[in-house]
Amino acid sequence: MAFRPVNLRFEHHLPLPGTLSTIGIGESHPRVSWNLENQPENFQQITYHLELLRGAEPTSATPPTYSEEIQGTSSTLIQWPESHALPSRSGAFVRVKVSGETASAWSDWHYVEAGLLIRSDWTCSRISSPSYTSPEAPSPSAIFKRSFAVKRGVKKARVYMTSQGVYDLRVNGKPVSTDFMNPGWTNYQDRLLYQVYDVAGALSEDSENHLTVEVAEGWFTGRLAWGDGVRNVYGDRNAIMAQLELEYADGTREVVNSDDRWQVTQGASTTAEIYDGQTFDASRAKLIEESLRGDLSLAGFAAAQVLPPLPESTELEAMTSAPMRQIDVLRPATQFTTPSGKTIIDFGQNLVGYARIKNVTGQKGHTITLKFAEVMENEELGTRPLRCAKVTDNFILAGTPEPESWEPNFTFHGFRYLQVDNWPGDTATLSSAIEAVVIHTDMTRAATFECSNASLNQLHSNVFWSMRGNFTGLPTDCPQRDERLGWTGDIAVFAPTATFLYDCTALLQSWLKDLWLDQKDLGGIPPVVSPNCLKAMGFWARVSECAIWNDAVILVPWALYQETGDLALLSAQFESMDTFLNSIPLDKNHDALWSDDSFQLGDWLDPLAPPDNPAQSQTDAHNVANAFLVNSLAIMAKICALLEKPAEAAKFSDWHARARQQFRHLYVTPAGFVSSDSQTAYALAIVFDLLEKDQLPTAGARLDRLIRKNGFRISTGFAGTPYVLEALVLTGHTQTAYRMLLETGCPSWLYPITMGATTTWERWDSMMPDGSINPGEMTSFNHYALGAVAHFLHERVGGLRCVAAGWARCRVEPLPGGEITKVKVEHLAIQGKIGAEWEVVDGVFRVEVRVPAGTVMEVAMPKGEVKEVGAGVWKFEEKFDAYSWPPKAISGLPDGITLEDVKNE
Ligand code: BGC
Repeated sequence: MAFRPVNLRFEHHLPLPGTLSTIGIGESHPRVSWNLENQPENFQQITYHLELLRGAEPTSATPPTYSEEIQGTSSTLIQWPESHALPSRSGAFVRVKVSGETASAWSDWHYVEAGLLIRSDWTCSRISSPSYTSPEAPSPSAIFKRSFAVKRGVKKARVYMTSQGVYDLRVNGKPVSTDFMNPGWTNYQDRLLYQVYDVAGALSEDSENHLTVEVAEGWFTGRLAWGDGVRNVYGDRNAIMAQLELEYADGTREVVNSDDRWQVTQGASTTAEIYDGQTFDASRAKLIEESLRGDLSLAGFAAAQVLPPLPESTELEAMTSAPMRQIDVLRPATQFTTPSGKTIIDFGQNLVGYARIKNVTGQKGHTITLKFAEVMENEELGTRPLRCAKVTDNFILAGTPEPESWEPNFTFHGFRYLQVDNWPGDTATLSSAIEAVVIHTDMTRAATFECSNASLNQLHSNVFWSMRGNFTGLPTDCPQRDERLGWTGDIAVFAPTATFLYDCTALLQSWLKDLWLDQKDLGGIPPVVSPNCLKAMGFWARVSECAIWNDAVILVPWALYQETGDLALLSAQFESMDTFLNSIPLDKNHDALWSDDSFQLGDWLDPLAPPDNPAQSQTDAHNVANAFLVNSLAIMAKICALLEKPAEAAKFSDWHARARQQFRHLYVTPAGFVSSDSQTAYALAIVFDLLEKDQLPTAGARLDRLIRKNGFRISTGFAGTPYVLEALVLTGHTQTAYRMLLETGCPSWLYPITMGATTTWERWDSMMPDGSINPGEMTSFNHYALGAVAHFLHERVGGLRCVAAGWARCRVEPLPGGEITKVKVEHLAIQGKIGAEWEVVDGVFRVEVRVPAGTVMEVAMPKGEVKEVGAGVWKFEEKFDAYSWPPKAISGLPDGITLEDVKNE
């Protein structure tokens, strides 16, 4: 197999599934990255040769538009040639080859195409249904239609499309993609994302064609947030903007714009809500279909109403991430009947998506009702945790002689169990007639983790599924109840885990823009949820200052920078970070720390907090807030240095030093005991480098003691969970860390596994040991925050960690312990796949590592020797003496401190 570059990417976009084509991007100079395939061992790139081809299909006869060989060792985020900007709509084929000691073959040609980059490119109108009133209640979907003639010889056909609401675009009645609920959720008043579809293959030449767009409430007008929530946060009517552009081989162009020539009528979904579900009337759908074939008046189509153009202040932005898509299909695992006689399907996995009904027959008007829940309680569907979300879909049959099928297009549910009410005929046919469709933002999976302990493998799988279920266009807290919001604290603690599990850069990059817009709107302090729909919700409208949640503006971009090495991501967020830190209300007496009067959620969901008050944690909330502040200041000082802002770097270093000193003065005894005397307080003090060298042994020993006294059970909430095991390792208590990780009593990481969990729970005991559901309001079975422990699985159990941003340098340093004898961990970094697999067999430690070109790897062997390797697959082994373990050095401790310094035997 040839040595060549593969997998070319433009900025952080993904190509269309199964293609080498990326269309509709918002950049005219997209930076280019690639991986290498079959490279020689230790290959080091010295030059790369980039070619662009514009205005023609690549053939051996076509000379490239641009061809240049450039000195450069990097294969990531390479500048696009300045004088070859891509104007709106135009594309380029791109290929690359590299050379070092050996030269590679050319990569395949990859295609990249710009979207509509300037506002005046948009010639379509914003149209709506004239029958919309200001709905205080859920409204039905609307369906828009436009017929148009297509000549022979279509060369290119694109639909540029967005909506206020969520839409489903079809050409000649067929979906143009598996995209789901576009254009996703953003701060619609400031930025509305558009999508671009290649529809050439769906058109019939030399004949009449039609576009239909169904639009539903989505996040634009639909109900958001808990209780009665809020409706119409961004406006009170749904609208669409569609622009079909056709290019023919003879050079002519035609544009079909949304305008008053479009017809619109009520769709077949009488309700289509995110929380409550969708009700679909198949008779109405049939009537619409018939009407579309000829007489539009049959289904009541009338001229669409043209609305005033979008205000100039609303950016029309190309979507950076891939959209949500139908990603997977799960068949029923089992089916059973409850004591009250309900029919339940168990899919065997808690997931996010919907149920698809296939080939059912029944009377016209017969309604099949689908109810969804994550758990069973008292042998019936456990719906109480869903709070005010009805989570119910209804399919009203048309009663056609041929079997009918349906799947919702405007709602999603978090579920493992599905209750099917009113199934026409024998329920024995159900398992072949129903399947679960998994939806989430389409992202490349970037991690595998497998080890010799089956429960840890299940824990990792649960974390993975909870990330999938909550990356629905933005990072949300949970996918099932009347919430599903972009809570900032959840992603603040989970970001380093998220970036390891999936390539989610584009999604988070987009969300950070919304976060900054919301932050400006609040006057400088970031919101606790973004997009900030809580603005319209009484008390919550006033809640904003709140460490961890606010710290997302620093912790999320920092995690993205560590993952990608992309300084542009930091630079884009710099103003947001700087504004946040400068807006913090400071304390009267300790002027480098949070004001003692500030509102804080603290170590949210500490297992000792009462079910009805998750903020009442054993660790003082201001202690937690200030620990996070010191950590954020340290990161900010580094960011300023990286962005070459020396004055700001000096300011934040100084603030960091004062904050650290004031923190110790307030919360730490000279010997190293930390007030609150809790797992979280010690974990944060150790991992955030808040202690002096001579305080570390006492702090580590106290943390170790607290954990032993607690029977190795966890006692941390959102704040402490990501750090407690790392704090043990950093202070030389590795075996306690393993003992705690492997604990199965409640609360612990493995307790939910013993209860059959297949996703990460919001609470340690969302399901209580007796099988009942925790009485607290906050009881989801799919919250990723506590899954931040997967970072420890990757970095310490697997031993693979990034030590220079963008995986330019990484380290494999496994910590054998507990009962674990074998681990395999892999990560798809920006340069390609990095992996480590270690095992201890018959007193011998063996490790095999995989290194892509562009990365240097340090392999730390148990006895302390560190080997350095480049591209290739490498194997090492040495005799393993458990008593000499752990080694003298452990990476991650502050500079100048060794394991000997922190141990307190
Ligand atoms: C959410 C959390 C969130 C918290 C903060 C909850 O309702 O589900 O994940 O961070 O509120 O108040």
